[in-house]
Amino acid sequence: MAKTRTTYQCNACGSTQPKWAGQCPDCRAWNTIEEFRVPASPATSRLGHTGQAPAAVTRLSAVAAGDVARLPTGLDELDRVLGDGLVPGSVVLLGGDPGIGKSTLLLQAVAALGATNRCLYVSGEESLQQIAMRAERLGLDAERLECLSETCVEHVLATAASVRPGVMVIDSIQTLYSEQLDSAPGSVSQVRESAAALVRFAKQQDCAVILVGHVTKEGALAGPRVLEHMVDAVLYFESDSGSRYRIVRSFKNRFGAVNELGVFAMTGKGLRQVRNPSAIFLSGQSEPAAGSIVTVIREGSRPLLVELQALVDETHLANPRRVALGMEHNRLAMLLAVLHRHGGVSLGQQDVFVNVVGGLRVADTGLDLPVMLAVLSSYRGRALPEKLIAFGEVGLSGEIRPVFGGEERLREAAGQGFQRVVLPHANLPKKPPKGLRVEAAATLAEVLNRIFD
Ligand code: TYD
Ligand code: MG
Repeated sequence: MAKTRTTYQCNACGSTQPKWAGQCPDCRAWNTIEEFRVPASPATSRLGHTGQAPAAVTRLSAVAAGDVARLPTGLDELDRVLGDGLVPGSVVLLGGDPGIGKSTLLLQAVAALGATNRCLYVSGEESLQQIAMRAERLGLDAERLECLSETCVEHVLATAASVRPGVMVIDSIQTLYSEQLDSAPGSVSQVRESAAALVRFAKQQDCAVILVGHVTKEGALAGPRVLEHMVDAVLYFESDSGSRYRIVRSFKNRFGAVNELGVFAMTGKGLRQVRNPSAIFLSGQSEPAAGSIVTVIREGSRPLLVELQALVDETHLANPRRVALGMEHNRLAMLLAVLHRHGGVSLGQQDVFVNVVGGLRVADTGLDLPVMLAVLSSYRGRALPEKLIAFGEVGLSGEIRPVFGGEERLREAAGQGFQRVVLPHANLPKKPPKGLRVEAAATLAEVLNRIFD
């Protein structure tokens, strides 16, 4: 029997420790360290020889890369996030809060994929009867759905090896356990071991595997970062609480762009694609209101219109509040400092709240300029001009810096009926889209003069 070595692993952060401790030295969580047995690595000599025969090395020019045919999931929004469909033999991790719609989405995708490929849907959470009820509610062709209710990864792999599916869904990775380990299902070692076995299977059998992962309340994938390194793509399912819209976002993708967004709406009959997401992130207000502005951001390869709202109010606290929802908090603090230094507007006695409408989280730096305009508009109690859109990064010396994808942003803005846009000089197009008046600005002072005077 192969020798084993004992290590200790934290259930919360996945770090490996040399000895047991009540508190994890890395993430400071209590009672999360558990014993973990791994096969001992073979003894190596000083030169690193293990006594094994050397493997052959191949020049890349001798490898036919070719174009791999991707498998369409029947949902364009999901295909876009995956990078134009599912790649055979790839492993995708789909994370999200419980109840957000992961099982619904994948059952719909499997039913569509089943038209061209044999698919296996493995559920460790629901019985076959529950899955059948869901399929019926979603109006899916049950004939195409092959399901297995199982939690032992060795049994899953044995079944998959005989069924030979082209696509396999594991719902969820946290319910699987391996007979080789004695720790409980859902623990880091079980999740890691089961995922590793599934990754090996995917590569050997050229079967695309989609793993569902539940997210802990801290927002990390339970059984955590270890999985993100092992898989080819990591997608997250997000939603604003109470909203029926769901966003699938790619965080890592070996076969496509990251930060790509797919937008869905949850209906009584499952998830429906939203083909014009720009419309849903606007609040639909017809009268322009103080503190509100529309901007166009780039998420992945697609421009998207979003509405920003700011509220500036006199503070009753010694330290005025700065609250940023949907954008980075530190960035707001920085923008307010720039506004003070280069715009001559001091908000030291004001609370400032900024919100991206629709529950979207935006990392695009093109948000800088519209945030400043919204803040100033609320502070002065003056609505911004109607049909105005703005985007641009603001530097620490008050200069307006270019953002990428300028022309596509303009086309999206024009397509949604906007008439006037304020943008960085370097993003000025040779020929603006029809019906859109473009106004380039080099500095913050220039923009403020133009809009507020
Ligand atoms: P589910 O896919 O089970 O979530 P997850 O697998 O991520 O835990 O989705 C469950 C939620 O979706 C549940 O609250 C009910 C809702 N839902 C609908 O609104 N319409 C539907 O057609 C379905 C199947 C679910
Ligand atoms: Mg589920």
